[in-house]
Amino acid sequence: MKTEHIPIDEKNIDPAAVRRAAQILKDGGVVAVPTETVYGLAADAMNEDAVRRIFAAKDRPADNPLIVHITRWEMLDGLVEDIPEAARRLAERFWPGPLTMVLKKGSRVPDVTSAGLPSVGIRMPSHPVIRAIIDESGLPLAAPSANRSGRPSTTTAQHCIDDLDGRVDAIVCSGECSVGVESTVLSLVTDPPRLLRPGAVTPEQLCEVIGEIELDPAVTGPADVNSRVSAPGMKYRHYAPLARVQLVRASAEAFAAYVNERADEGTAALCFAGEEHLLHVPAQLLGSNENEAAHVLFAALREFDRKGVQTVYVHCPDPTGVGLAVFNRLQRAAAFDVIEL
Ligand code: TXA
Ligand code: MG
Repeated sequence: MKTEHIPIDEKNIDPAAVRRAAQILKDGGVVAVPTETVYGLAADAMNEDAVRRIFAAKDRPADNPLIVHITRWEMLDGLVEDIPEAARRLAERFWPGPLTMVLKKGSRVPDVTSAGLPSVGIRMPSHPVIRAIIDESGLPLAAPSANRSGRPSTTTAQHCIDDLDGRVDAIVCSGECSVGVESTVLSLVTDPPRLLRPGAVTPEQLCEVIGEIELDPAVTGPADVNSRVSAPGMKYRHYAPLARVQLVRASAEAFAAYVNERADEGTAALCFAGEEHLLHVPAQLLGSNENEAAHVLFAALREFDRKGVQTVYVHCPDPTGVGLAVFNRLQRAAAFDVIEL
């Protein structure tokens, strides 16, 4: 398949380019589009064949449900069964933005989209390009992250091209995603609401609005593959570069000593800015705080692959604020190989 590249500058949106992307989606095509979190691989959420093409392009297991993206509250009609008061309050505070709410599925959502679950994840993104495409097409868009299944998510158009060129109808080429990690996923079909995946909207912020929430065990540790997993996506090895990744919880000095003892040809490190001077191996930087770490995380993991690195030691960020999301993704990239010094 020849993949069309559609450049759209988010600061100066070309209506003709938006119409082109919207037309492909209305025709049942699959299009990678930027969001504020990561790039998404979008199709008409109501069109079963189109949604199947998303799964095929990504090699995504069919039991992993998709998030449906909307721009207006009225689009929820038929997508969800009822809207609890807590969802209204959360939407008021965090939509548009990086929060996905899992709600009771409405009759118009096909089973392929929700992977057969009685619930559906809904998000109202803030990125002007996906918003323009949703508005122009009039379609709710099912969109998982625009990476091949198991690979790090994509935060630039080039990442999408690397993973999906030749496998999808089009890639909308815009700039870097500002957040850099996928949305917070909160289930409101359980009582109390349950955090299934941490993201830029933190547990503390959610609690401020709706009081008590529960953390799914998959937020801080490995999901038990034998039990019924509440966010099916969290059970797979994920975000994995080709290199072996090990997460190291330690002071900067202890981390450097540990890495330097193991320094050889194929070894590299992922650490915070300023720490690279202590290291005898090449390093990618996580910036100087957790927001910067989220922003660069997936690009850094992909860069290790490009350089053919075999082992990556990661200086573990504090799992507080957005750092919890970074820690959660790194744990999966490391297949839960985490050590504490
Ligand atoms: O930021 C994001 O959420 C990005 C952008 C494109 O919006 N999308 C994204 O989609 O990360 P994906 O498919 O890579 O991750 C969706 C996660 C998966 O872990 C999935 O299992 C979970 O959300 N999920 C979706 N619908 C669900 C449902 N009905 N119940 C429980 N978990 C659900
Ligand atoms: Mg994903």
